[in-house]
Amino acid sequence: MSIQRVLSGMRPSGKLHLGHLHGALSNWVELQEKYECFYFVADWHALTTEYENTKNIKNDSVDMVIDWLSVGLDPEKSTIFVQSQLPEHSELHLFLSMITPLSWLERCPTYKEQLKEIKLRDLHTYGFLGYPVLQAADILIYKADKVPVGEDQLPHLELTREIARRFNSFYGEILTEPQALLTKTPKIPGNDGRKMSKSYNNCIYLSDEPSVISKKISSYITDPARIHPTDLGHPEICPIFALHKIYSENYKETEELCKKGKIGCVKCKQILTSEIIKLLEPIQKKQKELKKNPAEIHKILKTGSEKARAIAGKTINEIRDALKLWNTE
Ligand code: TRP
Repeated sequence: MSIQRVLSGMRPSGKLHLGHLHGALSNWVELQEKYECFYFVADWHALTTEYENTKNIKNDSVDMVIDWLSVGLDPEKSTIFVQSQLPEHSELHLFLSMITPLSWLERCPTYKEQLKEIKLRDLHTYGFLGYPVLQAADILIYKADKVPVGEDQLPHLELTREIARRFNSFYGEILTEPQALLTKTPKIPGNDGRKMSKSYNNCIYLSDEPSVISKKISSYITDPARIHPTDLGHPEICPIFALHKIYSENYKETEELCKKGKIGCVKCKQILTSEIIKLLEPIQKKQKELKKNPAEIHKILKTGSEKARAIAGKTINEIRDALKLWNTE
């Protein structure tokens, strides 16, 4: 069997935090060894919600790509590019929009939730309703076999498969039905115990200086039953312990000490802080090198879009032929 193709994208959220690292990126890095990988910045997807304030999208895209590279995405192994550099995606989006029933989009759980939750922007737009159609175009244009995503994106993957089936039933077997590669993700709590997220303002960023990391870790809530360092602890409910499990080889030892009241929260946090600083050290070194050399990033993205275009352009021509439209040849 020929090597399978993996594709995934991320909206440009600027600098990335530990949640991104464990939720997606470390998995992307691993997949590079086994698959032909395509990773891209979904900057048009950002427009579906940020259409009124677009000024940061480009900078945020570059910052995000710097973080991708610094954690080990390798442009020699993976094709790394920006969606808006590939107008082919928008042409496929248009074809798919013709055949996608409105009811499929209106019943999409992410659509319903976001309409309810996001009150600061008017999301009653054509583009926002079409978010999953654009995502389907991103995936189907490369005939990707596998798409690594978190659980929240599964409805979009299912919709992509449905759209591909409908398309193929009209025009012939052109598009590949992709499979989701569900990323197993440990819970990464922020200092308030909630999921780490930019909108909660509780993130440890990959680029945070050691002193900032130390301050942020000291601000974490811990087991509320521990007033004195000798009080018996309940690591299973403590966000600091959730992080120890990820970052500290000796977390079992810390767990025992906490349960027996033999280590206080301050000390426990210090151990964690040094583990996180140690993990981020090589990443931050790479970030600093890349920041000094923006031309390098642009070169990587240019090569990436050329590689992506070779495939996307071919799919578009196949589709134009199947629909009996003009093609570019
Ligand atoms: N919707 C995805 C997210 O918010 C981003 C995305 C856009 C994507 N296009 C994609 C993910 C294609 C996988 C494949 O995370």
